[in-house]
Amino acid sequence: MRAGIIGAGHYVPDKIVTNADLEKIVDTNDEWIRTRTGIEERRIAEDTMDTSDMAYEAAIRAMEAANITGADIDLILVATVTPDTPFPTVSCMLQDRLGATKAAAMDLSAACAGFMYGVVTAKQFIDTAVYKNILVVGAEKLSKITDWTDRNTCVLFGDGAGAVVVGEVSDDKGILSFELGADGSGGKHLYQDKDFISMNGREVFKFAVRQMPESSLHVVEKAGYTKEDVDYLIPHQANIRIMEAARNKLGIPVEKMATSVKRFGNTSSASIPIALSEAVQNGDVKDGNLIVLVGFGGGLTWGAIAMKWGR
Ligand code: UT7
Repeated sequence: MRAGIIGAGHYVPDKIVTNADLEKIVDTNDEWIRTRTGIEERRIAEDTMDTSDMAYEAAIRAMEAANITGADIDLILVATVTPDTPFPTVSCMLQDRLGATKAAAMDLSAACAGFMYGVVTAKQFIDTAVYKNILVVGAEKLSKITDWTDRNTCVLFGDGAGAVVVGEVSDDKGILSFELGADGSGGKHLYQDKDFISMNGREVFKFAVRQMPESSLHVVEKAGYTKEDVDYLIPHQANIRIMEAARNKLGIPVEKMATSVKRFGNTSSASIPIALSEAVQNGDVKDGNLIVLVGFGGGLTWGAIAMKWGR
C-alpha cells in the first residue's frame, strides 16, 4: 500500500472579473495582463462568502469523489494565508460543518506552496498507518488582502478552493517522491504588509523560473523516472511565463500542462488542487498517469510531488 490521492474537488465563486473590468479601476490594460501573466479573468467571492465557505464546497466534492463521509475523516489540513479568522481555524470550521467528529484539524501556512506541504504532511500519517483518510484543502479569499489600487498585484490574484482526500492506494499508484523547501532570506520579496499583499514581482519571478523546473526534475528522478515519462504537469498557476519555463525544461507538450491561470488567476494555495481537480474531471489526468505537481510561494517556499494517478 502507498499514500495517494483518492478523490479531488474544487470550487470557484461565480463572479467573474475580467481584465477589462480592472482597466476601469487601475492604470492597466488587457494586453499587458495577458502577455505578462497569461491571465484573462479571475473569480472574486461575494462579501458573504469567506475562505471556509469555499473550502467547504471543495471539500464535499472531494469527499464525494473519494466516496467517503465526514465520519470517515481522521485529519483535516487546510492550507491558507487568508483564514476567516486566525482562530478558530478554517480546518476546525470544516470539521464542524462536515460532521467530521473524529477528525483532528489544523491550518498550515506556506503561502502558495501550502497545498504541497499539506499533501506531504498527510502522506506521513498514511505511510505510518496512523490515519486512513485525510482531507487536504487549499483555500483562499485573496481578494480581502488585495490592494485594489495597486496595479502590480491586483491584476494577479483570484479566489477559490481545491481539496483532495489522501488515503491508501495500491502500491503501483500514489505518491512516489516529493521535495519541500524554504528560503527565509527571500521573505522580503513577497509578504503581507499590514493589510495587503506586497510583492517584488521580478525577484519572485526569477526565483520561480529557477525553482519550478529544478524541483520538478528532482521529484521525477527521485521517483526513478525520466522527464519523458511525465504524462501531465500541474504547476502552481501564478504566471503562464513561469509555467512555460517549467514545461520547456521538462520538454512536455503544451497540452500536457494545466493552464487554469487564464480563467482563475493566481489563487495561491488553491491553484494546484483546483487545476488537479479540473484535469481529473475533464480526463486530462487518467488512471496510471505519471503526474507532477509543483508549487512555489511567499516565504519563500516550494514543493513538488511525483505521483501515479489512481487508486
Ligand atoms: O504565487 C506567487 C505570486 N507571485 C508571482 O508569481 C509573481 C511573479 N512575478 C511575475 O509574475 C511578474 O514579475 C509580474 C507579472 C508581476 C510582472 O511582470 P514583469 O514582466 O516582471 O514586469 P515588471 O515588474 O518588470 O514591470 C514592467 C512594467 C513596469 O513599468 P516600467 O517601470 O517599466 O515603466 C511596471 O510598472 O510594467 C508596469 N506594470 C504594469 N503595467 C500595466 C506593472 N504592473 C502593471 C499592470 N499594468 N498591471
